[in-house]
Amino acid sequence: MKVIIVENYDEASVEASKIMLAAIKANPSIHLGLATGTTPVGLYKEMVKDFKENGTSYKDVKSFNLDEYSGLPKTHDQSYYYFMIENLFKHLDINLDNVHIQESQGNIEENCKKYNELLETEGVDLQLLGIGSNGHIGFNEPGTSFDAVTREIALHDSTVADNARLFFDGDLDAVPKKALTQGIKNIMNAKEIVLLASGTNKAKAVKGMIEGEITTDLPASVLQNHPNVTVILDKEAASLLK
Ligand code: GLP
Repeated sequence: MKVIIVENYDEASVEASKIMLAAIKANPSIHLGLATGTTPVGLYKEMVKDFKENGTSYKDVKSFNLDEYSGLPKTHDQSYYYFMIENLFKHLDINLDNVHIQESQGNIEENCKKYNELLETEGVDLQLLGIGSNGHIGFNEPGTSFDAVTREIALHDSTVADNARLFFDGDLDAVPKKALTQGIKNIMNAKEIVLLASGTNKAKAVKGMIEGEITTDLPASVLQNHPNVTVILDKEAASLLK
């Protein structure tokens, strides 16, 4: 695990964008695994800025998102699909046919099966991750088996509370209590992983991920087993590291 510690959130976003953009330039038909949440917003802004200034093209890029809330149509303004369109895709030349996010309406079991098959067939070259304050990656909450693949899960109360802040104006009742998420196994299949974390509320999870034992109690600790992971932290997120 390579760990990069920078001063603040903006620097972390720039650092992540360097890795992301270098990878896209080296392989214009790269398969990106993308994440939602507050953390990647700065990185996505850097990617949009680069697209405007330097024209790095995404026309042959394919993307595969980590997760989606259950029951929300793609058009719902709190869905992760909508988030990705607003924060990234609509600003780039990416072909929306190449954008993949779990379909969270209709036959969920069938949709998850199809998503797993898609990930198996296509494969992810570079996976971007955030981390939950409880150590989750994607929506793989503590206790999740490392063999888990894409499926519907129940969100922990702490995750619902964390996410209400960003997606539902703090209204806990409005946050879906279930989501579809790539499993740990899917995430670990990516050739390369970049994990971004910022802020003191992530410091404990970050310490466990890097210095703790590998345990399903802290899902992100599984990344110690992956051969190509870069963790980018601001000072606050790194504050508990030895
Ligand atoms: C969310 C997402 C994760 C994300 C994490 C951190 O629940 N499912 O993919 O990495 O929690 O979110 P944030 O970046 O807003 O702190």
